[in-house]
Amino acid sequence: MPDTLFGVFFEEINHAGAGGLWAELVSNRGFESGGHHSPSIIDPWSIIGNDSLIKVSTEASSCFKQNPIALRMEVFCGNDCPVGGVGIYNPGYWGMNIEKGKTYNLVLYFRSLGSVNVSVSLTDSTGLQTLATTNIIRTDVSNWTKLEAKLEAKGSSSNARLQLTTGTKGVIWFDQVSLMPTDTYKGHGFRKDLFKMVADMKPAFIRFPGGCFVEGEYLRNAFRWKETIGAWEERPGHFGDVWFYWTDDGLGHYEFFQLAEDLGAEPIWVFNNGISHQESVDPSVIMPFVQEALDGIEFARGDANSTWGSIRAAMGHPEPFGLKYVAIGNEDCNKKYYRENYLQFYAAIRQAYPDIKMISNCDGSRVKLDHPADMYDFHIYSDARTVFSMANTFDDTSRVGPKAFVSEYAVTGDDAGLGSLLASLAEAGFLMGLEKNSDIVEMASYAPLFVNTNDKRWKPDAIVFDSSQSYGTPSYWMQHFFKDSNGATLLKSTLHTNSSYPLEASAIVFQDPVDKKNYLRVKVVNFGSSTVNLKISIDGLDPNLLDTSGSKTVLTSANVKDENSFAFPQKISPVTSMLEKAGRNIDAVLLPHSLTCFDVLT
Ligand code: AHR
Repeated sequence: MPDTLFGVFFEEINHAGAGGLWAELVSNRGFESGGHHSPSIIDPWSIIGNDSLIKVSTEASSCFKQNPIALRMEVFCGNDCPVGGVGIYNPGYWGMNIEKGKTYNLVLYFRSLGSVNVSVSLTDSTGLQTLATTNIIRTDVSNWTKLEAKLEAKGSSSNARLQLTTGTKGVIWFDQVSLMPTDTYKGHGFRKDLFKMVADMKPAFIRFPGGCFVEGEYLRNAFRWKETIGAWEERPGHFGDVWFYWTDDGLGHYEFFQLAEDLGAEPIWVFNNGISHQESVDPSVIMPFVQEALDGIEFARGDANSTWGSIRAAMGHPEPFGLKYVAIGNEDCNKKYYRENYLQFYAAIRQAYPDIKMISNCDGSRVKLDHPADMYDFHIYSDARTVFSMANTFDDTSRVGPKAFVSEYAVTGDDAGLGSLLASLAEAGFLMGLEKNSDIVEMASYAPLFVNTNDKRWKPDAIVFDSSQSYGTPSYWMQHFFKDSNGATLLKSTLHTNSSYPLEASAIVFQDPVDKKNYLRVKVVNFGSSTVNLKISIDGLDPNLLDTSGSKTVLTSANVKDENSFAFPQKISPVTSMLEKAGRNIDAVLLPHSLTCFDVLT
């Protein structure tokens, strides 16, 4: 099977990045939310004090060219200010997670015509309990001034906020206020617990940054990679109008490649191809989009002397990021001008980067593509029965021609809820079908990967989180049964059954990356509601090399619609036990509605 068979698809959806994997704690740090195309709003910043004490407004007076908006705070009270002063606070993304003993990097820009005496503090959600604090006391700050401080938390709250307060009369401008925990993954800005959840899946690739996020409802709100690189203060951010939220784009083009590298996963960059949900750029004027794609590839692959590679180098990565795959748009096959424009992207990239594999949005599983491609996208969201029965989807696909990239699959709707056992079993059956067709299916990834529980734009998802905790849905755990399949050897397996119980099975031999030993793994999904007694017979492998014991791992629950939750995060998760009698024949009992895998040393 391909080394790259199973990976992940990261989309900025459900606050997966901003307010999730990207560890920035301040939401709308530049006060630009709303974007270039609508009046700026300060949400979720709020005011401490009332109209007679303080007036807060936004105005285009920033020192950052790309981010013109700054916050103007006029304070009317002085000695008569209430205890604690007046000011503004940011609650982060539904509360900041501040942990006692940990350190947080604060950066902010400010200026004032008079003297400044501002208290910067991390507090609980009421503002009454202070967790960490520092003061800004300055007299001559008529020019924009940068403050950098490390805040060490003396207390904890998973629903904390950042406050800027003062008891001094006058006007102060603030801009680009950032707070990051110091202990992100390798200091690269990724929230550690969420990074680990993904890394534990051992993804062979990561497709990013969307999905619909790449397209935008309108092109002006699409992800434009050039606006997401360089110093974070200079990034304009944008309003993603498909999932309908603002992102400061701290998690930008560079960070996505860094994420791929940190995960040890092949990056698969999906770029905007001049098509949004509502518009298609005419082929006669598509060239600037083609150039933008070429530049984006150069940013990742060019050496440090190239125009765009030099910017990557200046950002801290002199060595190129390996980039071998790009997808030309997302779900655009039937949109106006897709093919005409696709051919222009294809020709230009093929000429500049002959080795890069290009992924078309048009499904080639049934009919031959009418355009050249190295791979084609295949997306499936449906009910559990349909997805389970799609294990055979690629059985009859022509073996000549581009390979399939099942870049988005999931059971959705009532069968799935927020992530049910039923959904995961259907998906497991589907993936076994992909394993068996992995001569023609090159890659597959579940979608979406993350959901912040406070912003469920799309359900179900693989990983659910809030400011401080996370858990995997059954579909997350189901994928763990497949993580050793990358680069494994698929064995021929046949299922003989007289019963009407819907079963799906596959068999592989893989090398364990830790002990370097070879294991036979048989996976079986029992999609029915009755127990099944299954006899597994192994032929062809040297019986003397097969261990007489092994292990059995099961994913199941009392009810097929059961889900995990913050209260019971591992209610449905793999449970491993000894298999005392293994060898050439294994008598297996498959629980109703279960996924079981048998591992035997060989
Ligand atoms: O995964 C959620 C969305 O589903 C993706 O953005 C899009 O590609 C698909 O329609």
